[in-house]
Amino acid sequence: MQTQVAIIGGGPSGLLLSQILHLRGIQSVIVEQKSRAYVLGRIRAGVLEQGLVDMLRAAGVGDRMDREGLPHEGFDIAHKGKRQRIDMAGLTGGKSVMVYGQTEVTLDLYDARDQMDGIIVDEAEDVTPHDLNTDNPYITYEKGGETHRIDCDFVAGCDGFHGVSRKAIPATILREYEKVYPFGWLGVLSETPPVSHELIYNHSDRGFALCSMRNDNLSRYYVQCAIQEEVSNWSDDRFWEELKSRLPADAARDLVMGPSIEKSIAPLRSFVAEPLSYGRLFLAGDAGHIVPPTGAKGLNLAASDIHYLSEAFIRFYEEGSDTGLKNYSETALKRIWKAMRFSWWMTTLLHKFPENEGFGDRIQDTELEYLFSSKAAQTALAENYVGLPY
Ligand code: APR
Ligand code: PHB
Repeated sequence: MQTQVAIIGGGPSGLLLSQILHLRGIQSVIVEQKSRAYVLGRIRAGVLEQGLVDMLRAAGVGDRMDREGLPHEGFDIAHKGKRQRIDMAGLTGGKSVMVYGQTEVTLDLYDARDQMDGIIVDEAEDVTPHDLNTDNPYITYEKGGETHRIDCDFVAGCDGFHGVSRKAIPATILREYEKVYPFGWLGVLSETPPVSHELIYNHSDRGFALCSMRNDNLSRYYVQCAIQEEVSNWSDDRFWEELKSRLPADAARDLVMGPSIEKSIAPLRSFVAEPLSYGRLFLAGDAGHIVPPTGAKGLNLAASDIHYLSEAFIRFYEEGSDTGLKNYSETALKRIWKAMRFSWWMTTLLHKFPENEGFGDRIQDTELEYLFSSKAAQTALAENYVGLPY
């Protein structure tokens, strides 16, 4: 096969890139190692910044989001029995976010690619990029007992944290920055009405908890848990009791409990790889960086990468200029580091750190009290939460 941009990975990054390029007449092929059912079975965060909402609309995949998504203009932070609303819209001159699951975004993108006859190879094994440092890169993969080859102009590495693309950058060039947090998030999806119509981020002595949602009868809740915790140790009853113990009294009273339809544990990590390009390879999304889920920046950062990368490809193919591609890594990393800082800060503010006893706990309480009392502090939080400009 021959294409212009070979895309490794059929998650939201790869799909969105392929869709945007298609609308500008640029060919791509996506090569994904898992089945489509597997990709669509993953439950991830569900808060979309305005920038991503606009991108999805412009890419022709915003209709269902506009029908079913929930625009949110604020959220609560709870601490020591008090709930403080962060008036996102009021503090940012009218900006808001859209609550719409990443799983739904991915499904809408798959549907759009299918309608436009986009080529998505699934269940591809042993995907390998080659000759990235030449003008004729290609990728190979195994499927149906045969080796396949795709010749291309560029390779987009959209294959997530565990993918092969980042590993194709020589260790002498790649620098990795990482922070692993000493806890995870245990998440539950349940067909129950959300406890509140806006999200509640809870700090408590027993640890962090988050009340989120997908729609009027689908709730998403999380509790901070030990890093080595096993899902099998958490019955639904134990989960609900733990969640209730971390919520302010009114929310604990209003919580509607029911059977879980999904339950999983995710570790928390901050990670950045630099640079995000090597020869004709460009990394985007989780392939190049990971944020902890506090603040829901993962998918939104993938989207800003795809914004910069698609603009760079369009400039290359429409104007013959490689300036955007040369600057891609530096441009994308500037915004990535700002979201790294924000999600690290929000994680540090709201979780119970095992090593924090004493001084650290008092500083955390004081920072929350300051946030509750200062419009300036709330504005900084709101500005980052709705998303910094591209
Ligand atoms: N070859 C082909 N495909 C691969 C390979 C490989 N070697 N390794 C991984 N993949 C696929 C995965 O199966 C997955 O479908 O790449 C895809 C990467 O998708 P995501 O992990 O969802 O990453 P991305 O598309 O960048 O989306 C970022 O997803 O993980 C969340 O927090 C993250 O919300 C953010 C968003
Ligand atoms: C979610 O709804 O899954 C979600 C929302 C906000 C976050 C993280 C996850 O910060």
